[in-house]
Amino acid sequence: MDNDWDIFISRFEALSKIDLKSYKRPQMERRINSFMRNANADNYNSFINLLKTNREIYRKFLDHITINVSEFFRNSNHWEILEKQVVPELLKTNKNLKIWSAGCSTGEEAYSLAMICNERHINLGGTILATDIDNEVLEKAGMGIYSEKAVQSVPPAYLNKYFVAENNFYRIKDSIKQMVRFQQQDLLKDSFGAGFDLILCRNVVIYFTEESKQRLYRKFCDALRPRGVLFIGSTEQIFQSRELGLQSIATFFYQKT
Ligand SMILES: C[S@@+](CC[C@H](N)C(=O)[O-])C[C@H]1O[C@@H](n2cnc3c(N)ncnc32)[C@H](O)[C@@H]1O
Repeated sequence: MDNDWDIFISRFEALSKIDLKSYKRPQMERRINSFMRNANADNYNSFINLLKTNREIYRKFLDHITINVSEFFRNSNHWEILEKQVVPELLKTNKNLKIWSAGCSTGEEAYSLAMICNERHINLGGTILATDIDNEVLEKAGMGIYSEKAVQSVPPAYLNKYFVAENNFYRIKDSIKQMVRFQQQDLLKDSFGAGFDLILCRNVVIYFTEESKQRLYRKFCDALRPRGVLFIGSTEQIFQSRELGLQSIATFFYQKT
């Protein structure tokens, strides 16, 4: 079975470029096995052949393993700390903020950032970078169209100001859309830019192994400018942050020392 699994992940990597070895095996295996059962695939070999030949199942499978649930202003109390404490502190040492939403899914996080920056007249060195491994979510993010349910967490004043209601949907205005640049990227494999003032990587690493998390946090630290800040998810914590050159400045916020 172990051998089957190893062969499956190497064939899957050849197909998708996604390295499942960097994700926690028990969780990943459970998700994959439940998907296989639903797709009536009896074993890894027939499943990989199915993924190769059936584009729709392949797409659904990628969605299933990447888990791309997102929300505008997810954990609003943390966004308040970001807006009232962290951003003003960053602005003391740099007038133009370079910002990155890593693992941005369908764009809610990046657009939340853009709305705040617009409200507070924050200068961005360019556009907010928003990246994800999954091209399909990036396509949705780029369209900027959200259901009524999805915009429930947007403050009413922002909803009026930054969205246009169309039938049962809300379209983010071009002025906000233009502030964000979406780009495909695998955080575990690709190289990063440098000089970021603020990086958000929230609810992305849940299924990463401890080793890949640690490697990723080191890469983020290198990508931050001195005193730049990394904002992580509400169930996450960075162990040995000091060794990485990061200091906790508020719960879920780490500053490069
Ligand atoms: C749960 S969503 C988080 C979205 C947003 N950050 C939030 O907190 O609302 C996790 C996202 O991480 C992305 N992801 C998973 N592994 C990744 C990797 N290796 N590189 C880049 N993105 C990845 C998934 O495609 C998914 O869209």
